[in-house]
Amino acid sequence: MKKIILITGAGGMFGQDACELFTRWGYEVIAAKKSDLDVTDFFAVKKFFAEKKFDFVLHAAAYTKVDEAESSRDLAFLINAEAARNVAAAAAEKNLPILYISTDYVFDGEKGAPYFVNDATNPLNIYGASKLAGEESVKKINPQHYIVRTSWLYGKHGKNFVKSMLNLAQKQNIIKVVDDQFGCPTWTRELAAGVKKLIEEKKPFGTYHICGSGVTTWCEFAKEIFKICKMKIEVMSVKSEESPRPARRPKFSAMANNEICCDWREALRDYLCSTQIRH
Ligand SMILES: NC(=O)c1ccc[n+]([C@@H]2O[C@H](COP(=O)([O-])OP(=O)(O)OC[C@H]3O[C@@H](n4cnc5c(N)ncnc54)[C@H](OP(=O)(O)O)[C@@H]3O)[C@@H](O)[C@H]2O)c1
Repeated sequence: MKKIILITGAGGMFGQDACELFTRWGYEVIAAKKSDLDVTDFFAVKKFFAEKKFDFVLHAAAYTKVDEAESSRDLAFLINAEAARNVAAAAAEKNLPILYISTDYVFDGEKGAPYFVNDATNPLNIYGASKLAGEESVKKINPQHYIVRTSWLYGKHGKNFVKSMLNLAQKQNIIKVVDDQFGCPTWTRELAAGVKKLIEEKKPFGTYHICGSGVTTWCEFAKEIFKICKMKIEVMSVKSEESPRPARRPKFSAMANNEICCDWREALRDYLCSTQIRH
């Protein structure tokens, strides 16, 4: 029998790709966009869970505006923490497992080596703090939980770094990109495949890191995009201090992967070849 999966935040970058992929992989998908289910509305969540039948909850709804979160603390916590609690509680009531997508920004980046799942967290910004609060709420309220931390996501839909670089390249030949933040770029397809593996292999509940293999900087990431697309764009490295932003970012938030994911360069090549976003 087909497994039925509820995907919240189904209109988002990961949500849209996850809906397409899980459908392709033979699942029945209940795609809940914000307009179908506002996860901050406790009673709406309860009603939705009472009326629909599904076997698993992939909670991809989130507040993801890292810089704006600095001045919208309450909203970030409402969506990333309180709403996650609503969804996790509704799932627990139906004895259903939930998977909460979290972020490398729960770490402060001071370790200097890839983070393991049990390493101490210490978010530097409001977004990271709200996602960490979400992790904790989910863990507390639903024993059947997966917390999946990922990083530097890009996919077919919505805005992301790869698309921003390609758009900028339409307007300028020199692009400045920071070279002092290290992390793991991750294609949404790799993340979805990792999630599928957790579910299908019935891995123990708990916290996992799923991200592209290998570590890079935003600057090297940009250079690789233009190399693959054979575009003659000069990528100039700058320091974070030279392009200040409202939210502090960790210097080194690479994570040690729990799942075998492609090397980030290979995944990027596949993505650029398969999604037709090349200019
Ligand atoms: N993007 C990254 O680089 C990155 C890195 C690490 C971890 N993550 C995590 O990965 C997950 C997916 O991220 P993403 O990049 O796909 O984010 P996204 O594109 O912003 O998608 C999030 C979705 O959640 C929806 N949403 C917001 N408030 C909601 C509410 N009250 N009820 C229901 N839906 C609501 C958003 O709708 P609106 O847009 O209409 O508000 C959006 O469609 C998130 O948990 C994020 O924290 C992302």
